[in-house]
Amino acid sequence: MIKKAELHVHLEGTATPALVRQLAANNGAELDPSTFASDGEFRWNDFWDFLKCYDKAAAAIRSKDDYRLVTYDYLKRCAAEGVIYVETFSSPDHAAEVGISYQDHLDGIAAGIDDARRDFGIEGRIIVTCVRHLGPEKAIAVAQSVLDAPHPYVVGFGMGGDEAQFHPKDFAPAFNLVHNAGLATTNHAGEFGGPESIRATLEHLPVSRIGHGVRSIEDLDLLAELAAKRIPLELCPGSNISTGLYSDYESHPFHRLKEAGCLVTISSDDPPFFATSVGKEYANVANAFGYDDATMSQITRDTIDAAFCDDELKERLKSEI
Ligand code: ADE
Ligand code: ZN
Repeated sequence: MIKKAELHVHLEGTATPALVRQLAANNGAELDPSTFASDGEFRWNDFWDFLKCYDKAAAAIRSKDDYRLVTYDYLKRCAAEGVIYVETFSSPDHAAEVGISYQDHLDGIAAGIDDARRDFGIEGRIIVTCVRHLGPEKAIAVAQSVLDAPHPYVVGFGMGGDEAQFHPKDFAPAFNLVHNAGLATTNHAGEFGGPESIRATLEHLPVSRIGHGVRSIEDLDLLAELAAKRIPLELCPGSNISTGLYSDYESHPFHRLKEAGCLVTISSDDPPFFATSVGKEYANVANAFGYDDATMSQITRDTIDAAFCDDELKERLKSEI
């Protein structure tokens, strides 16, 4: 089995409908019935509706141990597909929404990583994220929490949410806070925003990767800049197809971005929402573009190089590929 790695997955967005139901039942939490469709899967009909559905499902995760379980369950499924490294986004704002402190949230995720390493040999690290549509003040509060409670597994800072809200420069104070403390950063840009959203991110935020960035294909000068600077793109083809950006893998720009010299990586984003997994993404990309095993393994090596973890771990991971 090809060894795999992913850099772009939202932790709350990894919990399956079954796990969400189980957590809600354990916690005596009433879930909004509109969270699920009649077939039991998550129900949403466009990107903005997906963000709402994500929030409703995340509300079932109510404690430190719930976060441990969600993390462990995801890493277990990943390890079974040959994934050796996952960098997951954590969202303290989602935890705070149900009364979980920053520290408990972090400790729960770290415990899930430790348990999964012990049981399945998989390695994990955390990128703490803020939510763009919640605004710059909340982003600064999240960034400050990262500084106030440093943790060896927290290797970066990022931002997800609705790309149409606010401007990247509004978040420069939050990003600069963590960047100046030595952490790497990434921002969702060029998913539902066009290439100008990626340009604005590069201009105003100290990022070393771009979340998605797929819409750079619409701007050849930007594409050349991303390629020349070797700024890794956290591509999530199945997510883009599910949310309607592209109709299928064949028409997804993955191959064209790779051919243009961009450093491309493959991630699942929110796997059960998009009926995918890292293993499925690797298989679908390989099938669509006729990539052989050597090409896929090289993508994993590039992904590890693009990771935010330390060099010693990167070398160990690459020796496993
Ligand atoms: N939050 C969870 N998944 C997301 C995505 N694909 N884009 C932006 N924010 C998100
Ligand atoms: Zn994402």
